[in-house]
Amino acid sequence: MASQGAKRLPKAAGLKGPSALRTKPRPKQIPAAPLSRTSPNNPSHCQYSPTQPPPPPSPPRPWSVNPKALTAWTIAAFVFSTYGTYLYVSYDKTVKNSKSLSVPDDVADRYDKTATNFDAEVNMAEQVMSMGTKRRELVQRARGNVLEVACGTGRNMKYYSLGEKRGTNKDGKAEIQGCRSVTFVDLSGRMVQIAKDKFEQLYPEFRMAAFRTQDAMDPIPPPPNTAAIQPGPLTSEPQKYQFDTVIQTMGLCSHPNPVAYLTHLGTLVKPERGEILLLEHGRSHYKWLNKVLDDLAPAHADRHGCWWNRDIGEIVRESGLEVVESKRWHMGTTWKFVLRPKVPGAETEEGHENGKGGKNSTWLSWFGL
Ligand SMILES: C[S@@+](CC[C@H](N)C(=O)[O-])C[C@H]1O[C@@H](n2cnc3c(N)ncnc32)[C@H](O)[C@@H]1O
Repeated sequence: MASQGAKRLPKAAGLKGPSALRTKPRPKQIPAAPLSRTSPNNPSHCQYSPTQPPPPPSPPRPWSVNPKALTAWTIAAFVFSTYGTYLYVSYDKTVKNSKSLSVPDDVADRYDKTATNFDAEVNMAEQVMSMGTKRRELVQRARGNVLEVACGTGRNMKYYSLGEKRGTNKDGKAEIQGCRSVTFVDLSGRMVQIAKDKFEQLYPEFRMAAFRTQDAMDPIPPPPNTAAIQPGPLTSEPQKYQFDTVIQTMGLCSHPNPVAYLTHLGTLVKPERGEILLLEHGRSHYKWLNKVLDDLAPAHADRHGCWWNRDIGEIVRESGLEVVESKRWHMGTTWKFVLRPKVPGAETEEGHENGKGGKNSTWLSWFGL
C-alpha cells in the first residue's frame, strides 16, 4: 500500500518524462494514523500510514476448556435429558391411563375415604398459593345467618368473625357486621365430624353453630337462632330465603350438576340483601394448561372426587345469579365470585374481573397480585 502510494505521486503532481524522475520528491512521512473502522462520512479516516505496514493479525487463541468443567456439563446434560424423558414418558402414560378410566359424574363419595388425610394433602399447595389470604378475605364478608355448604374439614373455620357487632363499611356507613349464626353442611359425615371438632376447639363459647351431614340440595333446617321462631317439619319443598350469606369454597368441582346446584344456593339467601360467596378452582386463562387439566381430569376426579377442569365462569353465567364481584388468580384457575339473586327488572351492575385490571392483568395474577 505504501509503495503504490509512492509510485502514483509523480502523476498526481502532473510531471512527465525523465526530468520527472530526477525531480521526484521524496514521499512525505505521514504520521501513523490510529487504526479505526471505516466511516462512510470520512473515508480517509481508516487508512494506515503508508510507511507503516498494518500489524499482522494476531494468531488464533488455542482452544482451551477446563476438562473438569466439560465433564460436569456433560453429566448435567445427561441427567437433565434423562429426567426430561422420564417425565415425558410418565406424563404420557398417566394421560393414557386417565383417558381410559370410566369415571362417573358424581364422585362426591370419595370424600368419606379421603377425609382423614384431606388437610395434610392440601396444606402445602394452599400455602404456596396463599389460599389462606383468599379464604380470609372471602369469609370476612359473611354476615348475619350464614350457611357454609360443602364445608369439608372446615378449612374456612378460623377466618369467621362470630357474633354480630355494629361497625362501619368502607364508605363509612354504619352496618351490622359479623355472623349471628353459622350452619355447616357436607355430604360426608367424616368431613363434618372433623369440621365440628375444629370449631369446638376454636370457638368453645359460641352456641349458634349447627353441623349437618346431608346433601346441600336437600332442605336445610333453619339457622340455629331462628329455629324457635320457625318451627315445623322439613318438607320436600325447598326452604327459601333463610340465610343472609351462603359460602362455598371448592365445592362446584365435586357436584354432578354444578349449574343446578348453584342456582339452588341462590334460593337459600334473602333476595334483597343475601350474598353467595364462592372461592372455586377450575379452568385457566391458558389453552395449554386447560389441555393438561382435561387430560388428567378423569384420574384426578377418580382419586380426589373433584373435576378440576370445569369452567366456573360459565357455570356462574348459566346459574342466572347476578355477579357483584369476581376475581381470578393462579393463571386463572382460582376463581372468586360474590353473587346475589337476580332481582327481576332491576338494572344489573356488571361484575368485574381482577379489579380494574380485568383480563389484561392476568400476568400479575400469577403472583397473586
Ligand atoms: C374439595 S372439598 C372442599 C372442602 C372445603 N370446602 C374446602 O374448601 O376445603 C368438596 C366437599 O364438597 C362436599 N360435597 C360434595 N357434594 C356435596 C353435596 N351435594 N352436598 C354437600 N356437600 C357436598 C364433599 O363431601 C367435600 O367435602
